[in-house]
Amino acid sequence: MSASTELQKLRSVATGFMGARVLITANTLGVFELLERPLSAQSVSRRLNTSKRATEILLDALVSLGFLKKSGRRYQNSSVSNRFLLRKSPHYQGDLLRHYGNLWQSWSGLDEVVSRGEPSSAEFDFRAFIMAMDNIARFKVKEVMRKVRLKGVKRVLDLGGGPGTYSLAFARKAEEVVLYDRPETLKIAKENIRNDPFKDRVVLKAGDFMVDDLGEGYDMVFMSQILHSYSEKECLGLIKKVKRSLLDGGMVVIHEFYLDRTRTSPASGALFAVNMLVNTPSGRSYTHEELRSWLKKAGFRVFQSDRLQETVLIQAEKRGS
Ligand SMILES: C[S@@+](CC[C@H](N)C(=O)[O-])C[C@H]1O[C@@H](n2cnc3c(N)ncnc32)[C@H](O)[C@@H]1O
Repeated sequence: MSASTELQKLRSVATGFMGARVLITANTLGVFELLERPLSAQSVSRRLNTSKRATEILLDALVSLGFLKKSGRRYQNSSVSNRFLLRKSPHYQGDLLRHYGNLWQSWSGLDEVVSRGEPSSAEFDFRAFIMAMDNIARFKVKEVMRKVRLKGVKRVLDLGGGPGTYSLAFARKAEEVVLYDRPETLKIAKENIRNDPFKDRVVLKAGDFMVDDLGEGYDMVFMSQILHSYSEKECLGLIKKVKRSLLDGGMVVIHEFYLDRTRTSPASGALFAVNMLVNTPSGRSYTHEELRSWLKKAGFRVFQSDRLQETVLIQAEKRGS
């Protein structure tokens, strides 16, 4: 690689925060909800109660990034903003951007986190976090459901099910889905699933899955994006606990970000490990081999592993009782 290409790469990583912050701020202020139709910077600033000069600079930067179009003195959403940043859109990603605003606060303490080895104590908008999981899952759920072996599955435990996006998908195939999460999450989930025709098959169960009982008699336990918040020892303990909650021949399905054996690739997994370093006391991304080895140690037989985009889906069957 030439020196100038290397320099470009370095600067592009180092200044990545600028575009990210412009987008996060515009989403927080509600710029995109206003700009379904063309408006001048002055009209936008009047409606948002913001400084006209600052708003104009922000809007021009959004045009440069492709999130707005400018015609004369008027600004309007680009197609990407109309598709992903309007609340009424089925592809809405605005909660995820608000959650990135959360992460902005916690990641800003990374210097200190690395020095002290303890997570950030920055405040968190919890609703944005939970609904961000819905924004992500909407794009994953079909692929996940296509891969999962659902034959004969009647009762599912969606452990740490968050907003209930996956629970609703399982509810279309199973008789009952127990969405297990903390009480504060379940309030949000209840609201999120309230208009779905299959919501009555979803039973909300409040608890801390690390300490409380999980119930029993499940055909399948779905664990999507929960292990990365915990240490290796805690993960193994939880998988053993899950095994006890399953019927004989029952299955566990793990859906997680992953790393290769070197723990350096893919970059999404390596950077997500930093996210967990910043936001949890003992979590990180795990390798495919680590996930499989815990399943084996806990008494499961892995029968299928699939790489999805940025995540891995591992399915395993309970051995013995
Ligand atoms: C990253 S979200 C994943 C949500 C969902 N499974 C998905 O894949 O979209 C993790 C979820 O696990 C829940 N969670 C984490 N630790 C928990 C615990 N000890 N007890 C109950 N729920 C927990 C969080 O409240 C959150 O809803």
